[in-house]
Amino acid sequence: MFPQTRMRRLRKNANIRALNAEIRLTADDFIYPIFVIEGQNIKNEVSSMPGVYQFSLDRVDEEIERAVNAGIKAIIFFGIPAEKDEVGSGAYAEDGIVQKALRQSRAKYPDLVLMADVCLCEYTSHGHCGLVSNDGTILNDPTLELLAKTAVSYAKAGADVVAPSDMMDGRIGALRQALDKEGLTDVSVMAYSVKYASAFYGPFREAAGDSAPRFGDRKTYQMDPASGARQALAEARLDVEEGCDYIIVKPALAYMDLIALMRANFTQPIVSYNVSGEYAMIKAAALNGWIDEEKTVLEMLTGLKRAGSDLIITYHAVDAALWLKKQG
Ligand code: PBG
Repeated sequence: MFPQTRMRRLRKNANIRALNAEIRLTADDFIYPIFVIEGQNIKNEVSSMPGVYQFSLDRVDEEIERAVNAGIKAIIFFGIPAEKDEVGSGAYAEDGIVQKALRQSRAKYPDLVLMADVCLCEYTSHGHCGLVSNDGTILNDPTLELLAKTAVSYAKAGADVVAPSDMMDGRIGALRQALDKEGLTDVSVMAYSVKYASAFYGPFREAAGDSAPRFGDRKTYQMDPASGARQALAEARLDVEEGCDYIIVKPALAYMDLIALMRANFTQPIVSYNVSGEYAMIKAAALNGWIDEEKTVLEMLTGLKRAGSDLIITYHAVDAALWLKKQG
C-alpha cells in the first residue's frame, strides 16, 4: 500500500539487489553439448550456429578443456558417423564415434560428467529416429532393441548418463532393463520426456551432419506443439514409471509453462533443453548488434531456472560460465 510499501527499496543498489536475488545461476546448472565427427584435425563451425563446432577426436579436447576451465561439470555428446545406413549401425557400433569420444574423455577426465544422446537419426540414411517399414512407418518396438543396445554400449564406454531423444514409446523401460541386465545399475537415464516436433531444431540438423528426415517428418513420434499439459504429464509419468532419473523438456523457451508443470508434479530433476534454433536466434541478433549477447543469454538462462529447471542443456554454457565467473 503506497506510500508505506515501496517495492523499490529492494532494488536500491547492486548489493541490496544481490541480497534479494531469488534465482542464482551458476556453471553447475549447465550441460554443454559437443558434436564429435570422424576424421582428423577437424574443427568445423556450424554455419547456422556461430561458435558451435564439429570436432574430430584429436581436436575435441581443446573444447572440453575450455569447458572444464570455465567450470562446466557435464557435457553431452552428439555423434556424426562416417557413414549412415538404414538401421543406424553407427549408433551402437563398438567403435562408433560417440563410443570412442566417451572412452577418450573418460580416460582423460575421470570426474567430468559424461552424457550421451541416444537416438538413431544421426546414424540412419533416412534420417528418422527409428527403424522404417516398407510403407514408411516408423516402427516402435523393433527400434527399442537398437536404442537399448546403443545405451549399453555408451555406458560401457564410460557414459554416466544416457539420454534417449527418439520419442519411441517404452524406451525408458527398455534402456533401464538393458542397463541393469549388464550390471550398469549406476548409469542414469535422462529422458527427453516432453519433446516436441519443433521447428526450433532447424540448425541442429546441420550440426548433426544433415540429420533431417529424408521423407515425412517426426510428427508421428515427437509431440504436437499444440498438445498441452495433459499429454506432457502423461509422457513424463510414463517415463518416471519406467525408471527415468531426469526429465527433459525440449525446446525450452516456447514451453516454459511445461517446465513449471514438471517441476510442480515430479521429484526428478527437471532439465530444459535450450535448443539450436533458440541459440541461433540470439547469435544472429547479437552478431547484427541488435541485442547485447551476454545480458540476453544470462537473462534467458535465469528465466529458464525461474521456470523450474534444475539443469539447462545449452550451447551457451561455456560463454555463460565465463561471464558468470567474470561477474564474480
Ligand atoms: C535427436 C535430437 C535432436 C535434437 C537433440 N537430439 C533433433 C531432433 O529430434 O529432431 C535437437 C537439439 C537442438 O535442436 O539443439 N533426436
